[in-house]
Amino acid sequence: MQNELKRLGILTGGGDCPGLNAVIRAVAKTSFNRYDLEVVGITSGFRGMIELEYFLLNDRHVSGILHRGGTILGTTNRDNPFRYPVGRENGRVVYGDVSGRAIANLEEMGVDVLVVVGGDGSLSIAGELYNKGVRVVGIPKTIDNDLSATDVTFGFDTALHTATDAIDKLHTTAESHHRVMVLEVMGRNAGWIALHSGMAGGADVILIPEIPFSYESVLRKIQERQSRGKNFSIIVVAEGALLPGGQHVYQQQVADNPLLDKLGGVAAVIGREIELRSGVETRVTVLGHLQRGGTPTPFDRNLGTRFGVKAVELALAGEFGQMVCLCGNRINSVLLSQAVARQKLVDPADELVRTAKAVGISFGD
Ligand code: F6P
Repeated sequence: MQNELKRLGILTGGGDCPGLNAVIRAVAKTSFNRYDLEVVGITSGFRGMIELEYFLLNDRHVSGILHRGGTILGTTNRDNPFRYPVGRENGRVVYGDVSGRAIANLEEMGVDVLVVVGGDGSLSIAGELYNKGVRVVGIPKTIDNDLSATDVTFGFDTALHTATDAIDKLHTTAESHHRVMVLEVMGRNAGWIALHSGMAGGADVILIPEIPFSYESVLRKIQERQSRGKNFSIIVVAEGALLPGGQHVYQQQVADNPLLDKLGGVAAVIGREIELRSGVETRVTVLGHLQRGGTPTPFDRNLGTRFGVKAVELALAGEFGQMVCLCGNRINSVLLSQAVARQKLVDPADELVRTAKAVGISFGD
């Protein structure tokens, strides 16, 4: 295979995430320096593949980007070659399968193997392309850390640093004003960011999608603290936490495409209710996209670099339809079909949850 392989293509799909540039840099540098391969950067995720937007990467493009957040290739979490907007009818967008065109474009770009860096959505598309004969290698990214086939995704650690720093800062006002401070963090339907940052930041209550909560239980925790002279509390809420009635809170829902629904606003609902029921002044902070931005941590840079190098090795070995992953402390690979089969959620019986409870954190259950 090594002799046949001349040019890799790489695209970043889905939400941006700290560490993407480390991956692009690693794929390019390994290809140039070690294997004498060319690398095409396909811009704006799968849109670039569909619309034939790309450029040949050189050493200058990938110099000085290791510490930079975002992606030099651009990204989108909307464009799917199997469901792409192809027109409008009666005021509604009409979607069509343009995967044939996208695959033909890979040939036009001279791409022998496509490296897709993405979360579950982009990696599912990568799997479908593989099933249609494209030579694909996947690299997992997401701040949500919700992919079951890898122990960790890069981006998660940086998001945790940002969220933990926010909790540290919220403590100041909470203590000074004797308030309840509620922080909403991202994570979609998984509570990983809330759980890890809440523990690291010494939160009093952590509310996650995987553990149903009641207001009574949250209030008990606040009152128990008050009885010990602690007149403030910090609550970390995952954006996907379900209200006691079992419903999510959305900023926006898209009628014909639930994949584009935007979670957000649950902390405001919870904060209002807590203030009403407890009489304690309560303030809400939504951390939002700050969690996705900024300088990647050393861990994320190194994980991205390790994933990038491994992806090139898989491509050279002819091991397509695979996704690189971290297993313990080893870089490995799994079938793409397995990688996206199951979302990784917090197990309420997990050691981490038990540890948090042991040190007095309430999950509102
Ligand atoms: O998957 C990453 C993520 O940041 C989620 O945590 C969040 O729900 C979503 O993306 C936000 O997406 P957008 O950038 O489209 O608002």
